[in-house]
This record gives sequence, C-alpha cells and structure tokens, in this order.
Amino acid sequence: MKFKSITGTKDLLPGESYRWHYVEEKFHKLARRYNFREIRTPVFEHTELFARGIGELTDIVGKEMYTFEDRSGNSLTLKPEMTAAVVRAYLQHNLGQQQPVSKLYYLAPMFRQERPQKGRLRQFHQFGLEIIGTPGALADAEIIVMTADYYAELGITNVKLKINSVGCEKCRPGYKEKLKEFLRPKLSDLSEDSRRRFETNPLRIIDSKDERDRELTEKAPLQKDHLCNECNEHFTHLQDILREADVEYAVDGKIVRGLDYYTKTAFEFISSALGSQDALSGGGRYDLLARELGGKNVPAVGVAGGIERLLLVLEESENAAVEEPHPAVYLAAADDTARIWLYGITQQLRRNNIPCETDLMLRSLKAQMREASRQNAAYTVIAGAEERNKNEVVLKDMKAGDQQNVPVDELVHILQKQLPESK
Ligand code: HAM
Repeated sequence: MKFKSITGTKDLLPGESYRWHYVEEKFHKLARRYNFREIRTPVFEHTELFARGIGELTDIVGKEMYTFEDRSGNSLTLKPEMTAAVVRAYLQHNLGQQQPVSKLYYLAPMFRQERPQKGRLRQFHQFGLEIIGTPGALADAEIIVMTADYYAELGITNVKLKINSVGCEKCRPGYKEKLKEFLRPKLSDLSEDSRRRFETNPLRIIDSKDERDRELTEKAPLQKDHLCNECNEHFTHLQDILREADVEYAVDGKIVRGLDYYTKTAFEFISSALGSQDALSGGGRYDLLARELGGKNVPAVGVAGGIERLLLVLEESENAAVEEPHPAVYLAAADDTARIWLYGITQQLRRNNIPCETDLMLRSLKAQMREASRQNAAYTVIAGAEERNKNEVVLKDMKAGDQQNVPVDELVHILQKQLPESK
C-alpha cells in the first residue's frame, strides 16, 4: 500500500471507538451537571493568535506548530491548544455581554509537531473547560473539582493533583530576578535548553526534565514563596475550597507549565500509569490573555486534558473496564422466503430502540447463527416459511440456549421486558 497515516497520527478503528464514545459521553454529561456549555471553534486560526497567546518563546510556538501559508498568503496554524481560540471567540462574539461569567467546555483535536512516543501524538484530542469573566478562586476550584470528578466517574484512581501559584505581573518580575541570581553561577552546568531559557524564560528551567538540571535547581527559590499579598490570598483561598470540596492535592512549587499565559494558579493532574509523559491534564488562571489578544482585561481560568492519555490510564485501571456494546438481537432467516419479511421485523425492532443486526450477505442459517454468536447478540430471532405463514418467529436466548415461538405482534414487548435499556 502506497499511503500510510502521517507519523504521530492515529486512525480510530471500530474496535476502539466505543471507548471514545464512553469517555466523551461522560464528559458531556458531567459538563451539563456543572452547567458548562459547549464551544466549537475552527480547526485553524491566524498564526498570530497562538504566537501572541501562548508566547513566542514557548516550545509550542517556537518548534511545534503546524503553520502554513494559504493561497492568499495568510499565515495559518492548526490549533495546538484551545484556550487562545476560545478567548478569541469570546471577545469576537462579545460573550461577556450576554452573561457575566461564561462556563465553556470542548472536546477537540489539537496539533503539535512533537516527537511521537507513548502518550504523545502529533494529532491528539483534548477535553477542556474554561471559565471566563471572574477573578475569584471559586472558579479555579470549580475547574479543578470537575476535572477530579471526571476521573473519579471514570473509575480512574491512580491520579494525583499538584497545584502551584506562578504569581502575577506585580510579584513575578522580582521573583524572576531572585531565580536568575540563584541560577547564574550554575549556568554553564545547565542543559543547553535551560541555558537558552535563562534570559527568555528562566521559570521553565525549574521544571526541566533533565536530571542534571533537576539536581542543580533542587534548592531554587520558588514563586509560591515570593507571592504578593493578592496572589498569596488567592492561593490560600483556593486550597481552603479544595479541602472543603474533598479534593486531595499537593502543593508543588515546581509546576510551571509550558504556556506563557498563566498567572496565579497553575496545576496538573498526573498519573504514574503514563511513564514519562505523565500529565493527564493541566491548566490554570490566565487573567492577562484577553488583553494580550487585544481585548479588555477579562480574568479567566481553565484546564485541558489529553483523551489518548486518559484512555491509556483507563486501560490500566482495574475498576474502569469499558464494555463494547453489541447488538441485542440478531435476526436470522432460515430460508429465502423469510428474508425480506424478516427485514421488516428488524426495522420494527430498531424503531422501538432495540439495537439489532441482520444478515446482509444471503448466508446460510448455520453461518448466520455463527455470526450471531460472534457478534455476541443476547437473542436471536429465527424465521423461515413456516413461521412466516403463522406470523410468528423463534426467539432464542443465546446465553441460556432455550427458545420459544413468539407471535410477531408480541416480539417488541417481550424483548423490551428482557432489555431494560431499550425502553
Ligand atoms: P497543555 O498542558 O499544553 O495545556 O495540554 C493539556 C493536556 O493535553 C496535557 O496534560 C496532555 O494530557 C495533553 N497533551 C498535550 N500535548 C499532547 C501530545 N502531543 N499528545 C498527546 N496529548 C497531549 C493546554 O493545552 C492548555 N490550553 C490548558 C488550559 C486550558 N489552560 C487553561 N485552560
């Protein structure tokens, strides 16, 4: 075969897609419970939106974006994340005028040209939440609590929440200087990436994955210990709320995050089941982003998590098995005279919300029965000329193995009694 999918992208095949439906449906339902409303934005945007929003000096913007010129010479980018796009849409459509606080959620594909490995793809999918319009720590908590609730609902237990405060415009510059003072004598021993970041983004050095960097920065001053009163109060308040909501967390002063827009709260949910790419989700407050994108000051906070990583963890969680749905009923024709008639009955069942399948290949009864077992149908409905003449069918319970003749008029009713989910 000449064509293969692009490195770092994946086909979602039928043997897996039911697991995606499962986690997506749970997210839609939970979002409704927490009164978030869905937002969908285009898959590409002007490059400038992300360059400004995420930060020119971040890895995402500097190395990972799928950027191209369209035929009119515009520079466009496949979205590497949603937050900048959501804020763009919020400002463009004046959502703030419709209601004081917008609670938005999404499920969407993202694109980053990273080196593919377990849990790291070039097209991946995120679930996400954004609360735009309020500076209070209750909103930060609402984002974190719903994310924790989502993992709990899915039965995922091997997950830990780490929170931090990365300060604000007032307290960060002073802290940055202290950090640089600490790092300066160690500069020549730091990794190349970290040396490069020293001038541009020294905060990222303390969450470097490089072993030597980690040793050298073990005692580095942390932003959380150098917060202004406002940030400190916000961080304390958030922790009070999380405790009240029974959400376990650990403060980790080294959570910095790879996007530049964060102020005050930054957090990550991590799972040991993931290996080196251990972030299940991450987020924080971004009070300056709307202004950076040319709007007014609009405080906001959000989270996004990878669906592929979620599914990896789900696979390894004992109490989180997802069962593949199968047809409840398989309709098998014993001879050709009954085939079309049976197709009419198949449709009656489907119209009554009973998931069923029938033979589309004109196979023998034996082959159809084999197919019914292969597809794990709970019941088989069998009919030939004789049953057709009497307007009845044979209903076979595939697990128990017993069967009975049933008048066609009663079939829906009988099956609905056996299959409560079809009611
Ligand atoms: P992020 O940390 O860049 O944050 O991505 C969030 C999550 O997306 C990660 O924790 C991870 O689960 C998943 N993810 C990221 N890159 C990949 C990849 N290459 N392959 C697979 N999964 C990946 C954001 O995107 C922010 N927009 C989050 C946010 C929302 N902050 C405020 N609101």
